[in-house]
Amino acid sequence: MDSYHESLLKLMHSLLFCFLIVLASIAAPSLADPPYELCSLDGNYAINGTFEKNLISLLSYMSSNSSASRFYSTSFGDGTDRVYAQYMCLNYVTNGTCGDCIRLASQHIRSLCPNDTEAIVWEESCQLRYSSRDFFGRLDISGNKWLDNAKNISQPVRFRMIVNNTLQNLTRVAASGPDKYVTGKVNFKDTSKNTLYGLVQCGRDLSAGDCRTCLEAAISDVLKNVYFSVGARLLSRSCYLRCSIFMNDCYEHNSAWKSNHSDLKKNLLIRVAGRGNKVVLILIITVALAAMVLVLVASFLYYLRRYHRDKKAYDQDLPFMSLRIIASATKNFSSSNKLGQGGFGPVYKGVLPDGKEVAIKMLSSCSEQGAEEFTNEVLLIMNLQHRNLVKLLGFCVDREERMLVYEFMPNGSLDVMLLG
Ligand SMILES: *[C@@H]1O[C@H](CO)[C@@H](O)[C@H](O)[C@H]1NC(C)=O
Ligand SMILES: *[C@@H]1O[C@H](CO)[C@@H](O)[C@H](O)[C@H]1NC(C)=O
Ligand SMILES: *[C@@H]1O[C@H](CO)[C@@H](O)[C@H](O)[C@H]1NC(C)=O
Ligand SMILES: *[C@@H]1O[C@H](CO)[C@@H](O)[C@H](O)[C@H]1NC(C)=O
Ligand SMILES: *[C@@H]1O[C@H](CO)[C@@H](O)[C@H](O)[C@H]1NC(C)=O
Ligand SMILES: *[C@@H]1O[C@H](CO)[C@@H](O)[C@H](O)[C@H]1NC(C)=O
Ligand SMILES: *[C@@H]1O[C@H](CO)[C@@H](O)[C@H](O)[C@H]1NC(C)=O
Ligand SMILES: *[C@@H]1O[C@H](CO)[C@@H](O)[C@H](O)[C@H]1NC(C)=O
Repeated sequence: MDSYHESLLKLMHSLLFCFLIVLASIAAPSLADPPYELCSLDGNYAINGTFEKNLISLLSYMSSNSSASRFYSTSFGDGTDRVYAQYMCLNYVTNGTCGDCIRLASQHIRSLCPNDTEAIVWEESCQLRYSSRDFFGRLDISGNKWLDNAKNISQPVRFRMIVNNTLQNLTRVAASGPDKYVTGKVNFKDTSKNTLYGLVQCGRDLSAGDCRTCLEAAISDVLKNVYFSVGARLLSRSCYLRCSIFMNDCYEHNSAWKSNHSDLKKNLLIRVAGRGNKVVLILIITVALAAMVLVLVASFLYYLRRYHRDKKAYDQDLPFMSLRIIASATKNFSSSNKLGQGGFGPVYKGVLPDGKEVAIKMLSSCSEQGAEEFTNEVLLIMNLQHRNLVKLLGFCVDREERMLVYEFMPNGSLDVMLLG
């Protein structure tokens, strides 16, 4: 690379970094991302005691078996050291995604609720719960958590009624069905959107009546607390509820994870952002950032082309990588190369033509919530730079696709990639 190119990049990089810091200070307090946890108030277990050993065995057993089904309950140990555990994945995710989610939740549940005799952790598409008491088939609707989409609906009163009717209807169907799960949509006109999507699901260990009670409490929490939002999620111990005028925000119909590149995009879930009047400010900064990144990418491409013209030899060290190279490095984004699924998108392992092992993170691209997703990308970069744990080797921009290429570190870095 020539020195002009290099110093231009350095300048852009530091400008970008300054913007990110400003953005982070504004956005960070209002963003809410999984995991969410609820820890016990009524007891701690002894460090290195039998309960802890049983819990560790049980979590590891559940993690290694979690790709086989989307709902599972089991217990381990005797007497007061017996541990009961249960996990539940959203019914639309594949077994593989469910497995990844439960493995992540098993780590989070111990770090978020250390030494608690009872805990529950909700991830993007699953929940994991354990207790020293037998809770299988028993309804508990205390401690529900709700999340709203950062956008408000323009006609909250009418919307609230439609949300209520829709979710009540879905609840009736889910409670009496074998899967305890149903999704649905109804017409609802709001600005540019015409549809309200809903999803409800109960633990398969609940009776029809308990499932209904769980979802009715969930609906009532949503109608009371976040009726004004275009989308809501409710996390309960034994049931899930989601509704939104954005389909991605709520559920996916065609959820099969495929190595097909264009299909991956559909599976990227939109993060639920907190509310607040900082939205306009964030939007302005996001637009400024988007412009900067555009300039950065454009100048990259320009100098890359010039560089190519000047020197014919292709230099593997260039940070820009073509989609072709990335596709071949990841065997066409094959599921066997997938390391996991984070809040922002899937992470793949790959091998570059020169033999270097890399981790490739796909970022969501411009869809109906382009600005929000872009913020997510930017925060991701910020997190990674800030923690300074994995080295960014390069990136790929190809039409709507954006990918970041990191040095692959076998231990430790995956968590950061997935969480970051
Ligand atoms: C359990 O955790 C609590 C809070 O983190 C801590 O105060 C307490 O000392 C811990 N108990 C044991 C036995 O380590
Ligand atoms: C628990 O066990 C580990 C190793 O087995 C030991 O290093 C640690 O000091 C123990 N902690 C307590 C509180 O006994
Ligand atoms: C479940 O996990 C255990 C322990 O990790 C393992 O031995 C067993 O083969 C797994 N069973 C299935 C069905 O995957
Ligand atoms: C996926 O899970 C379903 C049950 O939810 C099970 O019937 C099926 O065999 C599982 N597939 C694999 C490949 O484990
Ligand atoms: C949405 O409406 C609620 C309730 O009226 C209000 O508290 C909140 O500030 C609003 N949020 C936005 C982003 O306008
Ligand atoms: C929601 O609908 C049910 C009947 O379907 C009704 O009993 C309840 O009062 C409604 N809730 C709100 C907040 O409108
Ligand atoms: C709910 O179900 C009732 C009765 O089946 C139906 O009349 C109504 O249109 C449904 N409402 C929604 C919003 O789906
Ligand atoms: C991916 O799937 C879509 C439709 O599902 C198809 O149009 C497209 O050609 C596929 N792309 C590749 C690279 O196979």
